[in-house]
Amino acid sequence: MARIQYCLVSFLAFGLPLVSALAFPGAVGFGSIATGGSTPFVVTSLADSGTGTFRDAVSASGRNITFAVSGYIVLQSPVSLSSGITINGQTAPSPGIGVMGREISASGKNNIIIRNFRMRQGNLDPDTGKSAFNMGTASNVILDHCSVEYGVFDGVDAVGAVNVTVSNSIIALPIGQQFGAHLETGPATWYRNLWVSAHNRQPLTKANTQYINNVVYNYQAAYTVADTGGLFSHDIIGNYFIAGPSTTSAGDDYFQMNANQKVFASGNFLDSNKDGVLNGAAANTVGSAVVLTAPWNSGSTGLATLTAQQAFTSVVASAGASPRDQVDAFVVSTVNSLGTTGAILTNQASTGLSNNGYGTL
Ligand SMILES: *[C@@H]1O[C@H](CO)[C@@H](O)[C@H](O)[C@H]1NC(C)=O
Ligand SMILES: *[C@@H]1O[C@H](CO)[C@@H](O)[C@H](O)[C@H]1NC(C)=O
Repeated sequence: MARIQYCLVSFLAFGLPLVSALAFPGAVGFGSIATGGSTPFVVTSLADSGTGTFRDAVSASGRNITFAVSGYIVLQSPVSLSSGITINGQTAPSPGIGVMGREISASGKNNIIIRNFRMRQGNLDPDTGKSAFNMGTASNVILDHCSVEYGVFDGVDAVGAVNVTVSNSIIALPIGQQFGAHLETGPATWYRNLWVSAHNRQPLTKANTQYINNVVYNYQAAYTVADTGGLFSHDIIGNYFIAGPSTTSAGDDYFQMNANQKVFASGNFLDSNKDGVLNGAAANTVGSAVVLTAPWNSGSTGLATLTAQQAFTSVVASAGASPRDQVDAFVVSTVNSLGTTGAILTNQASTGLSNNGYGTL
């Protein structure tokens, strides 16, 4: 019965044909068509490589991966995912599972589901051209309740990515270029994410985009198309932009949004005064973009169930991998200061957390 209801919700919300099941119950947006893998594989070792490791798990297509171990996997080299993979981080014993030190890549792959997984690249990675998560030219990918911190090139690099959802996730504290996420091609759905302390790209989206019920804190520039020559449509609904100590121009909540873009913007708020209280005002004027009077995508209104104020409460309470570890707790504590704490970092160690700033997991 639940399955039937989800199919109906999918149909109503996205105008998609009533096809297969969602990636998982409650999956939303363009990446929700991902089916992942089905062959059980259990990760039993936190080692970088070898039998029963995460690297071993993702080395073959079709796997539905669960975890019998918890803690950080310290990567010695990037990990390239196969197509047709599901990573069920929510199955790890408390306090959960994560990787640190190198990039996770779905580059060029198809049909990937990643849930409840922590990806912390940081400056242990000597390659400044890599990101915490890379899905360049990938298709049908959904990340849900993931925590992506300390990205060096980007937090999420998704140039050429098709049919993507990033939902209920934390994308925070990028170092290096200090960019949140860069997506081109699309379509893409960014839903109920918490974006914290980045210089720009929260996201940079050269794609038809749904951007719904996100919270962006302590940005220098937030939602951008970087004045692209590309013609794209954007549904920007019920988001809350909140200035912090690093915010030099709160009006860069929408950045380089040129007249090639068509935007439906509704219910968005900006709290620019850094006074420790959530007391923003409506912010629905999006640069030079052409104003749409209705969403470009028929599913967007159905997804936008929260006001910006409700989105703040919900996202701050539940975005990211669960349970929250030291890094996510640090990130959320800056958000809860509502303007008084937070910094854009060049080194994860500046957080003051143990383990060279990666925290213990
Ligand atoms: C994959 O594993 C998860 C966690 O055990 C389970 O809930 C899900 O039903 C599995 N999916 C498939 C397609 O086997
Ligand atoms: C993207 O999703 C659409 C709609 O579900 C589908 O028709 C298309 O084949 C998908 N693209 C790829 C590359 O799988």
